[in-house]
Amino acid sequence: TTSAEAKWLGTPIIELKRMPECGGLLPPLRDVRGQHTVMIRTDLLENGKVSVPYPAKFKDTWDDDYVKMPCSRRNLFPVQDEVTQELQKKSRWELVKEALNDTLSSQQELKNAILKYSASQAKKWDFTALRLYCTKVLDPDAAEHLFGSLLPDMVQLALRASELCTKPIPLLKGGMNHSITMSQEQVACLLANAFFCTFPRRNSRRKEYCNYPDINFFRLFEGPSPRKIEKLKTLMCYFKSITEQNPTGLVTFTRKSLDKPLNWRSSQTRLTKIHITCEGTIEDDGYGMLQVDFANQFVGGGVTSSGLVQEEIRFLINPELIVSRLFTEALDHNECLIITGTEQYSKYTGYSHTYQWAGSHRDTTPRDDWQRRCTEIVAIDALQFKNFLQQFSPEKLNRELNKAYCGFARPEERSQNLAAVATGNWGCGVFGGDARLKALLQMLAAAEAGRDVAYFTFGDSQLMTDVHKMHSFLTRRKICVGEVYDLLGQYYSSVCKSCLSRRPDVSLYSFIYQQVSSSPAPDDSYRGSARH
Ligand code: AR6
Repeated sequence: TTSAEAKWLGTPIIELKRMPECGGLLPPLRDVRGQHTVMIRTDLLENGKVSVPYPAKFKDTWDDDYVKMPCSRRNLFPVQDEVTQELQKKSRWELVKEALNDTLSSQQELKNAILKYSASQAKKWDFTALRLYCTKVLDPDAAEHLFGSLLPDMVQLALRASELCTKPIPLLKGGMNHSITMSQEQVACLLANAFFCTFPRRNSRRKEYCNYPDINFFRLFEGPSPRKIEKLKTLMCYFKSITEQNPTGLVTFTRKSLDKPLNWRSSQTRLTKIHITCEGTIEDDGYGMLQVDFANQFVGGGVTSSGLVQEEIRFLINPELIVSRLFTEALDHNECLIITGTEQYSKYTGYSHTYQWAGSHRDTTPRDDWQRRCTEIVAIDALQFKNFLQQFSPEKLNRELNKAYCGFARPEERSQNLAAVATGNWGCGVFGGDARLKALLQMLAAAEAGRDVAYFTFGDSQLMTDVHKMHSFLTRRKICVGEVYDLLGQYYSSVCKSCLSRRPDVSLYSFIYQQVSSSPAPDDSYRGSARH
């Protein structure tokens, strides 16, 4: 029964499946050419032990298929000879080592070090947030720890790049189906390099990496916003944690595309179960489930600059996610990125402009046989709607359905081994989508993928009631995916297409209730209540 005080509706959350309990056996971890790049010695993989990089020696590549590493011999820097005036090419990595190995005892020295090896456009970089963090936020003891211990440790970690990340890291380009598995130590080394802004060719979006997210952290240091300070606190908590205790697990990044769009109209699949609640969050209460990242097509969105909503917050508290920005090209309509094994290092309170770092978090999520935390996050980017009615058009419905389905479906797994999807108002904050439509679309995609849904309305109890009522209605009437899809199409053609105002005159849900109730149904007991 529903009541005004209900905090959740539908199936009790304990009845939904989670990893690792629901999972099948993992195949042995191995590098498969063209499918899976594994950057460590799999034969030496052992619980609680730091992984051994593979191969033993740094393999230097400098081409369009792999990440251009800061420690590559080909990472060159033009310098003018003071005597002869001739332009010479010097190793930028040597310069990085020189600059970062100097004593960095103040924010000013850190800034100058970074600028020494960064190309000309870096002279415009602004370090206000970093300065405020070091001088106004940290107390003298904490500042001393930063410059005396934490930064030197981060420098050493960054400078171990050619020792730790020996295998070329493939770029996960549009259309590729490919996985990369690396150790949390390798991730940490790459993130330390991102912090010191050492990745070559990545400081301007105009060039070869224009279709990739930013990876160097320079925009994180910019401006006086208090939110930047909270971001810095969150990321420094990560660096403190991993430099004090080296994490021993692995993380897998999988880019996946849907080769053929589904025929939604002809689907006879029944809806799966839903647990819907106005309390809790995807990351806290959806542990062990497939957790949705309300992504940008450039994964991580504004995490290294000014964004601070669902995706950015998740990337801040689980910073290993940020490394995906190094190699993941912008997602296309039929693609997603799945990240398995990241750890949560920070707690937070608030959201967006009220976001605050709330201390370090000890993640106790169990590890799988590949030594990954059982935390699976899927980045799916919704469409941004400036015009509200547009989202109901068949073309947009198909796009969002296929995007969600690409993220949720695991054709190689049996449905009984699939955890529920933990999601919520995907595309309905910054991106302006309609939550009631998106909830329905995600139900269809999850049903088709053979998964149950845990839906977090983020405080909206009316939405909880409405979505639950719709789900029970459709389930009781035994209305399948194809029929719901058809109703959505009818809604567009009879309500939205001819609508002259900005919003439809009839809401989607009342339209569906009307349509279904006026057609003969196998069970006519529906009276507009949410009773079972
Ligand atoms: N758990 C459950 N629900 C949440 C949580 C959470 N932890 N956090 C927020 N919500 P939004 P979008 C709800 O705006 O519209 C980023 O910059 C809350 O109701 O982050 O898809 C990306 O990089 C919130 O209003 O997602 C993209 O550029 C709603 O989810 C862009 O935002 C939507 O969160 C994506 O925007």
